[in-house]
Order: sequence, then C-alpha cells, then structure tokens
Amino acid sequence: EKGGYDHFMLKEIFEQPKSIGDCLRGRLQAKEGKLVLGGIFDYVTKTVNADRILIIACGTSWHAGLVAEYIFEEFCRIPVEVEYASEFRYRNPIVNEKDVVIAISQSGETADTLAAIELAKSKGATIIGVCNVVGSSIARATHAGSYTHAGPEIGVASTKAFTAQISVLTMMALMIAEKKGSLSESKYRALLFELESVPEKVAKALLLNDQLEEIAKVFKDARNFLYLGRGFNFPVALEGALKLKEISYIHAEGYPAAEMKHGPIALIDEEMPVVVIATKDSSYEKIVSNVQEVKARKGKVIAVVSEGDTEIPKMADYVIEVPHISDALMPLIAVIPLQLLSYHIAVMRGCNVDQPRNLAKSVTVE
Ligand code: M6R
Repeated sequence: EKGGYDHFMLKEIFEQPKSIGDCLRGRLQAKEGKLVLGGIFDYVTKTVNADRILIIACGTSWHAGLVAEYIFEEFCRIPVEVEYASEFRYRNPIVNEKDVVIAISQSGETADTLAAIELAKSKGATIIGVCNVVGSSIARATHAGSYTHAGPEIGVASTKAFTAQISVLTMMALMIAEKKGSLSESKYRALLFELESVPEKVAKALLLNDQLEEIAKVFKDARNFLYLGRGFNFPVALEGALKLKEISYIHAEGYPAAEMKHGPIALIDEEMPVVVIATKDSSYEKIVSNVQEVKARKGKVIAVVSEGDTEIPKMADYVIEVPHISDALMPLIAVIPLQLLSYHIAVMRGCNVDQPRNLAKSVTVE
C-alpha cells in the first residue's frame, strides 16, 4: 500500500507530479486559453464583484491560503484576508453578504474550519470550499467549491494536499482575473502554459532527494531551524518550518526574511541552520542581503535557488537548485525540497514520520 516507499509521507511527496496533474486535468486548457472549474462557475461573477475575499483554514491549509492571498491580490486586485478558523469564529467577525469566503481543508472535517463556515454563512456570506475529501462535512456545508483531487493523504504531515490546494486556488484566481479583466490577455495565457509545466518541474525538483538526504545528515541533531522567504515564498517558509517541527520535533520558525532584524536575528550563531528560499524573483536582490546578514553572524545557510543562479551560491553553505518558474507559481516548486528535508531529518532521528506524537490527521475537536 506504500507503493514500495518506507512511509506514506515519502510516497505522497513523490506522487506530486501526478496529483498536481490530476488536479489540473480537464480544468486547465492552456492551448485554448481556457480554465474550467465547474464547481464555482456560477460564483465567478459574485467574486469579481466582492468587496473582499476572506480565506479561512488551519495549519498547512492556512499556509496555502496565504499563498492564495498573494496570488488573488496580484492577479484579481481584490483585497484578501486570511484567517485562522479558530480565531475567526470566536471574535465576532465583521462579515456580510458581499463577502466571499474561501474555506480550505484537506480532510473537510476540521472542527474550527467547519464552525467558521457556519458562522460566515449565518451572516450571509457566500462560501466556496477547497477540499480534498469528496463528500466531507466542509464540502457539504459550502455553497460551491472545487475538489483538489489529490487522492487519499495518509501521512499526518500534509504534502500533496498542499500543492493541490495551491493549484486549485491559482486556477480560481486566474478564472476570476480573466472575467474581471484585471490581468492582460498575454499574461493570463502565459501563466496557463506555466501552470501546465508545473508537474514536470515538480518531478525535476524530486530528483534533489539524494542531495537533501545528505544535507539532512549534517543537520539532523540541530536544536533549532529558521526558515526565511519573501513575497510568494514567505508562506513556503512557514510551511517548511511546520513540516520540520511536526515530524522531527525540532523547533523551527518561519519568518518573512525582512522581519529577521526585528528580533529573530538575535538567535543566529554558528549553531543555527537557516533555510532561505531565494529564487529569482522581484525580491531576489533583497533576499541576497538577508543571506549576507545571516552569514555575517555565522549562521549556516541552506539556500533554495533558481537553476543557474550564481550569486547566492557564493555565500550559502548548501545550495539547492530548483527549476525556474514565475514568482506566483514558485511555492509549488520551492516547497518540494523542504518536504524532503524534513522527511529525511525525521527518519534519521527515528521519529514516527507518518504518525507523529500528539497529532491526528484531522482535528475534529476544537
Ligand atoms: O484537513 P485540514 O486541511 O483542514 O487540516 C488542517 C490542519 O490540521 C493540517 O493542515 C495540519 O496542520 C497538518 N498536520 C500539517 O501538516
């Protein structure tokens, strides 16, 4: 059942070229310039005219929501707020009929997310679901939605569900942007082709597995890890840190790289591994200086860079080269090495990767 892999988590990490492909199939038609998400078709106009989009989720799904915030605001020019379901439901939130809520959940059974949906619904908002489990409670509670079609995810650490969620949310954003006219036709078309290339680029990123196993050997006994990213890659830093802490029990924190100066830089010394997502995008020059700041304090830098980069490799201790893609789609590629790094570290520490202590696959109690 693990398909020859030692753990479900590793199987699910390696399934991503297929699961993303399954998610895009039949929906994305790059040549025709078309996107068809049948489940939300009737709600596209409503979203185009929405005052704002509220995204509600927990854990890794919340990280997918943060990526979506950057994508929706960039392409659709609609204000987005991303909320932890548990906070949203208990603070008498301001919600009305003009709001569109997107609820994201792999299991579709997370208690806080379900309760947050019921609350927003009672205030008249339109609720769109992004779920993996067909027929789940959340899928049934929403007005409309699109499934992620990632297949069953058994490992407690979410991997393939995360990339499928981002794939669906990207398609939604592009459909809305096209309807709204907030994205030029040429940019829209180019993005469709790029999205189509994601499964192949993820497959290429998976070839880094052996290199990540080597890096894991070096850092498996670290007590702390810092993950840094900017822009679209900031949520990837949060996700990388969550993957590491939940399966290896190493304390890890994700930060927007520029926030380092406001506190976490005090943690950096020769003992501190710092994973920096430093791919070639609009914030590249800024992140180069963040890497210099870490090196000046003797931190160990593990950098995820775009193929062919020459600047960061001069400074970083370990360099992980991923295939290049536009800013907005990079989270789908950049998260792969981080999933693999946590996996190998956890295995080397003898942890129960698929069922980490104190955790359940779906959190059905608050
Ligand atoms: O099923 P959901 O997507 O609603 O679950 C949300 C979180 O409980 C989940 O993502 C959790 O954070 C994972 N263990 C992270 O890997």
